[in-house]
Amino acid sequence: MDYIITSKRLGLRNWSPSDIAPFIEMGKDEAVMQHFPKLLSEEESKDLIKRLQLHFEKHGYCYFAVDLLETSEFIGFTGLVNQTWESEYTPAVDIGWRLKRAAWGKGYATEAAKACLDAAFTKFGLEEVVAFATDTNFASENVMKKIGMKFIGTVQHPSIVDDNRFKHCVVYRATKS
Ligand SMILES: CC(C)(COP(=O)(O)OP(=O)(O)OC[C@H]1O[C@@H](n2cnc3c(N)ncnc32)[C@H](O)[C@@H]1OP(=O)(O)O)[C@@H](O)C(=O)NCCC(=O)NCCS
Repeated sequence: MDYIITSKRLGLRNWSPSDIAPFIEMGKDEAVMQHFPKLLSEEESKDLIKRLQLHFEKHGYCYFAVDLLETSEFIGFTGLVNQTWESEYTPAVDIGWRLKRAAWGKGYATEAAKACLDAAFTKFGLEEVVAFATDTNFASENVMKKIGMKFIGTVQHPSIVDDNRFKHCVVYRATKS
């Protein structure tokens, strides 16, 4: 397998057709999507994969598909994406993660995120990476803290500004130095 980044247990790579079915399942899982405005339809999941593949071709990174190295099982994504929506913290490159439920609670998100953040500075030449999560998504905020990112403020995402559940997003940042 062509892994762009590896860690002890995980391989991060561009998306492949075999990821489509398991990623569609994740998009239909209420628990996986509880901090997002809605579940993803099959078409929306496929479109997201296409957008991430294009992002990879253009920039050399994206929210990468993540495999368990031992079994080659796809467990979700972790990676970097250029965010251009308007706010005081953007444009910026953000780090994000979404794993299938069976892969939670094993330290995989933190392991993948740490490897990605290191690669952001050493492999992709970035100076700064930010992370966003709704302020009730403690599992996600925890990953930010565990990989050494620092809280820098809160922001409203323009596309969910009218949804009361997602009024406030925390913003964390890591810099190369
Ligand atoms: C956010 C998300 C990726 C976090 O996953 P996670 O499995 O909880 O995160 P981690 O990788 O940090 O693992 C957490 C736990 O695994 C446990 N663990 C078990 N084995 C471990 C190991 N070998 N190494 C490290 N931790 C291990 C730890 O106790 C840790 O809990 P702690 O932080 O309380 O100590 C997951 O909840 C998810 O996919 N959510 C839905 C999508 C989402 O909301 N994404 C973020 C949008 S902003």
